[in-house]
Amino acid sequence: MIICLGFQLLTAQTHIPSFNIRESQSLNGNWHYIIDPYETGYRNHRNWVPFDEKDYGKASAKPYYTNKKTMNPGDRVEYNFDTAPTLQVPGDWNSQKDQLLYYEGTLWYKTDFNFKKDEAQKAFIHFGAANYEADVYLNGEKAGKHRGGFDPFSFEVTDIIKDGSNFLIVRVDNSRQKENVPNLTTDWWNYGGITRDVSIVKVPQTFIADHYLYLDPSEPDMVKARIKIEGKAVPQEVTITIEEAGVKIKAVTDENGVANFSFSAKKLKRWYPKRPKLYEVTISISEDQVTDHIGFRTITTKGTDILLNGQSIFLRGISLHEEVPTRQARAYSREDANLLLSWAKELNCNFVRLAHYPHNVHMARKADELGLLLWEEIPVYWGIDYENPLAFDQAVSQLKGLVHRDKNRASVIVWSVANETPETPARFDFLKKLKNTIMEVDQTRLISAALERDESPEKRVMTIPDPFAAEVDLLSCNEYLGWYGSTPELCSEVSWELPRDKPFFVSEFGGGALYNYRGPKEQRWTEDYQEWLYREQLKMLRQIPTLRGMTPWILCDFRSPRRNLPLIQDGWNRKGLISNSGYKKKAFHVLKAFYDEMEQQYDYRIKD
Ligand code: GCU
Repeated sequence: MIICLGFQLLTAQTHIPSFNIRESQSLNGNWHYIIDPYETGYRNHRNWVPFDEKDYGKASAKPYYTNKKTMNPGDRVEYNFDTAPTLQVPGDWNSQKDQLLYYEGTLWYKTDFNFKKDEAQKAFIHFGAANYEADVYLNGEKAGKHRGGFDPFSFEVTDIIKDGSNFLIVRVDNSRQKENVPNLTTDWWNYGGITRDVSIVKVPQTFIADHYLYLDPSEPDMVKARIKIEGKAVPQEVTITIEEAGVKIKAVTDENGVANFSFSAKKLKRWYPKRPKLYEVTISISEDQVTDHIGFRTITTKGTDILLNGQSIFLRGISLHEEVPTRQARAYSREDANLLLSWAKELNCNFVRLAHYPHNVHMARKADELGLLLWEEIPVYWGIDYENPLAFDQAVSQLKGLVHRDKNRASVIVWSVANETPETPARFDFLKKLKNTIMEVDQTRLISAALERDESPEKRVMTIPDPFAAEVDLLSCNEYLGWYGSTPELCSEVSWELPRDKPFFVSEFGGGALYNYRGPKEQRWTEDYQEWLYREQLKMLRQIPTLRGMTPWILCDFRSPRRNLPLIQDGWNRKGLISNSGYKKKAFHVLKAFYDEMEQQYDYRIKD
């Protein structure tokens, strides 16, 4: 039975669906690099115009760094990638070389690789992410350009990749720009570089370009599926097989190459944090086949309750940046994901806020396996240029990239479109359009944002007068009572006045502590102060009748150029419950004890 759906999948650009479920040739490794702060390799030094932009008048214009070699004694070539130093890819450049720790600007990478070409197949080059702007040249030809520091991108290279040896040159520029997302200031490190996996993916001429399987909250016993095929414009028969559940169902693509399915979920066990059941789902057409591992669950709200598979839950969460204390660098691997999420499990979390940008693809996959629910977001953070269409384009591009990549992940239950964004009409319109972008693709998850609160300590009343509160499913805000502008005893003196028609969620609270700095609890920056703050915060928050979750700020200390108190911060934000060397602080245990209690209070039964 085929039921047409109103859901539109993203066809803005050809994505390889969850490329890591396809066989791919990894290009990870040590790549040569050239630092280029004056853009010698990219712009004409007289008029600053990029060499490879068509309007420079030479359609075949090439960048300066095209891997030229010195062939004769008299040749003048003022660069040589092959004798240049190397950087590990994936990996930010800041943490790999002392002289790059604060570097913001352009850096060029080059790697060589062999490839076995198959005329019957298409080839794509795929990047998990590069921060912030990337220009990709394969064998001296422009493959494409991407702007956005945390979303995956890919370019078809079928016509420029060679059978045998190839060379790949990538320009990455992490300089902060007014129209970027995020833009000129953040409370995290501007890690630059090819920060995630790079690979070559081969697909047949007609291939499975996108898949989406989910339980529709309005029909929770039906699996809905939408499969997009690209290539030959002839109808394709598509088969979905879930062997373990005895499901094998077929449909034929429509004129847009889309096959829609709707079939009973009766035989499928639901996904729960305590029982993260994943099914091997195989999607096949005559020329192609992909396999994904998918969990089936619903997430909805009813009044002030959050319902997972129809049962009320409390989101026992923690926020985290994409950074690991083991390398004091950007996280990027399955091992990094396992380390960070295992610490969250130790805290007895069932929820994690992946702040403040899309994390690498391994995080949601690992969360699916470990049984952690996720809040994912794009870096619409603080004072974005809300009136600039360029900024909006970048926000939408990153949002589409995130939703497209993770829409099959059961762990993801919240899409957030903003964090602490100054309230103006332009900002409201910007966020509303982002929300609509999500709703076009996915109506099965909760929409939220860290909204603007009114923290009037003199009035001792906390409210959320943000007009965007009417647009979200989860009423969320960050609050720092006891840290910014007050000390922890204030928590016992304030009350909260909140709407009573939706669940309330605290997306950040916390305070700084230097690991192993001990003293009287009144001494700021001691572990004892942070522990006191957590105790007072939790006493206050548990009084709020509509509270249904929290993600205290933050799991681990993290680098920030804004945190420079000598001997205490030294370039690190110290609000972590775990230090930047991986050691737990006293407050870690206060939060865990609270979560042990909340787990009992909101226990649920697995019914299948
Ligand atoms: C803000 C912001 C975080 C920041 C935190 C802090 O709420 O969302 O990105 O790190 O406060 O001040 O530590």
